[in-house]
Amino acid sequence: MAIKEIPVSQLNPKQFVDEKVGEIRSAVPEGLAVNALSGGVDSSTVTLLGHKALEGRLKTYFIDNGIMRRGEPEEIVSLFKKLGVTVEVVDAKEKFFKALKGLSDPEEKREAITQTFYKDVFGKLVKDSGARHLLQGTILTDVDETVAGIKRQHNVFEQLGIDPEETFGYKILEPLVQLRKDGVRKVGAALGLSEASFNRMPFPGPALSARVIGEVTPGKITLVRQATAITEEVLAGVPAFQYMAILHNDRVPGMRDNKRDYGLQIEIRCWDSVDARQATPTKLPYETLMILSRRMTTEVPGVVSVTYNIATKPPSTMEAV
Ligand code: XMP
Repeated sequence: MAIKEIPVSQLNPKQFVDEKVGEIRSAVPEGLAVNALSGGVDSSTVTLLGHKALEGRLKTYFIDNGIMRRGEPEEIVSLFKKLGVTVEVVDAKEKFFKALKGLSDPEEKREAITQTFYKDVFGKLVKDSGARHLLQGTILTDVDETVAGIKRQHNVFEQLGIDPEETFGYKILEPLVQLRKDGVRKVGAALGLSEASFNRMPFPGPALSARVIGEVTPGKITLVRQATAITEEVLAGVPAFQYMAILHNDRVPGMRDNKRDYGLQIEIRCWDSVDARQATPTKLPYETLMILSRRMTTEVPGVVSVTYNIATKPPSTMEAV
């Protein structure tokens, strides 16, 4: 069934919240539902929407998959505590690294994360809690791009002919699926998310593994996490849609202390975009690029090459994987 888009120009956030609260209540008339909070605007908005609808009948988990940014689990838990939502952290690091071992194809990596998340980790949580429903923040762009075959977003099933109930043993509710990112931000604001949260930069479900080209290992994640922290620090004041650091797979010759250093390459991407469907690289000042270059090569062990991506989406995508 085609999904009817609610463009941001026609969105009345308060009315949308009331409608969705009603729909969630009728879909889950009794018992527990669960949801996973990543801290991104989509899952944060769904968390608040779900708690408004179901209150204590919604259990919210933060899945620590080992591929999040620095300090992320702690920050999200404390932010939601202030909003009155208790978030339980589930340590699933080993499961995700095991699933990613040996994979370098982008779609295979995404699929491994999807399966680990929905089948292994969530399947068990849902079973243990006795819940029958999972609430998640899929948005229309995720569906569009998956259906068009551009990139399998980790959270899209029905449109690919996959029945989550049959495959994973629970129903998935997607209250934001008629919206795009700009609409979700308005709904998040109406639900009381702070500006820092609803204007938070998007971060993909496959997390830092979307920013490692080739096989994802704990060591590579440590490096890209460090590069990500530097990028976010240096570009903090830049009003871009999204910025990121990517760790390449190939090593290139470089020099350090007058010796050959066969080293790592970091690619920086910084995008101007409204809804992530199209994007252009931000015209960053050259001085900013030089700060990034200096910090990457001195602070991230082994980095000898730093590049800035100047392609547009399309034909590029925003994430590298
Ligand atoms: P791409 O790389 O597809 O990214 O041009 C478009 C926007 O979507 C985010 N992204 C994802 N978000 N699950 C998500 O929730 C995913 O699997 C995923 N892949 C990409 C990306 O960060 C950008 O904002």
